[in-house]
Amino acid sequence: MDLTAPYVPDLESIPAGLDLPAEIRRLKAERKAVLLAHYYQEPEIQDLADFVGDSLQLSQQAARADADVITFCGVHFMAETAKILNPARTVVIPDMDAGCSLADRCPADYFAEWLKQYPDHAVVSYINCSAGVKALSTIICTSSNAERVVNSLPQDRKVVFAPDRHLGKWVTKQTGRDMVLFPGFCIVHEQFTAKRLAVLKAQHPEAKLIAHPECDATVSQLADFVGSTAALLNYVATDPAQAFIVATEAGILHQMRQRRPSAELIPAPADSGCNCSLCPYMKLNSLEKLYLCLRDLQPEIHLEEGLRLRALKPLERMLALG
Ligand code: 13P
Ligand code: SF4
Repeated sequence: MDLTAPYVPDLESIPAGLDLPAEIRRLKAERKAVLLAHYYQEPEIQDLADFVGDSLQLSQQAARADADVITFCGVHFMAETAKILNPARTVVIPDMDAGCSLADRCPADYFAEWLKQYPDHAVVSYINCSAGVKALSTIICTSSNAERVVNSLPQDRKVVFAPDRHLGKWVTKQTGRDMVLFPGFCIVHEQFTAKRLAVLKAQHPEAKLIAHPECDATVSQLADFVGSTAALLNYVATDPAQAFIVATEAGILHQMRQRRPSAELIPAPADSGCNCSLCPYMKLNSLEKLYLCLRDLQPEIHLEEGLRLRALKPLERMLALG
């Protein structure tokens, strides 16, 4: 039994009036740390990062990082993926509780039982899953490469897609492959509804509606463009439209504003819950916790080596596709 007490960020230990961004920069240099941040992080965290990207870009950066420490400002499965890909580095995350509804609602032991129904299927798992689920998978995908990953499998191969049913449905439409879908979903993207967005579109007829494939199919059908966070950012940066309704987590708007300062960016409203289109897990990371994480080099991601090696294989298959 591991009796080590879990690390709890002691926010009260931060001296009053400390210049957190300056301290984070200083500690980053002192620790020889690289700071990777997802597009859904708070703007002040994105601005301190060495690299800001989507899940695929961040896993590629983590795999090639040669810093002593990878400070991962994202959610747990992302930091865990960094450790799987680059085990020689110390991988830390500001808040260990930064989970993900997709990963948390697909526990590996339940998934292993569920998969028994489909013994002759290839298993394509979205990167938003635990190391245990990755270890049960044939190949991993992200929202940027899901179509390519599924198309890389022989046409006659039966496929299970997990854990996001909406991304799975979107990929089914794009590839024409009939796949068995695990019934998971993202609590942020599932809050966007076609009904509410149609009203918003009517109020802003000049605006293009862009959506992440974690959204429900009715939202994707209504959208002018569907893509991963990096693809949505690129769309806003290059499309001539002057206004965009953005149906994904609102953190991405920070980079969009920098690329298109004069465009009107309208965050899609959620139809229930907090109505804010913010991921509660991503937002657990804060400047204060990032400072403590670099100061204490905690909380740190640890993985049993056998599990790491089993989870590595399907990730390497994905990365080999480019
Ligand atoms: P991407 O980074 O692949 O766009 O995925 C978005 C997301 O929800 C990450 O958790
Ligand atoms: Fe998970 Fe959704 Fe949050 Fe991404 S936005 S981390 S998929 S809950």
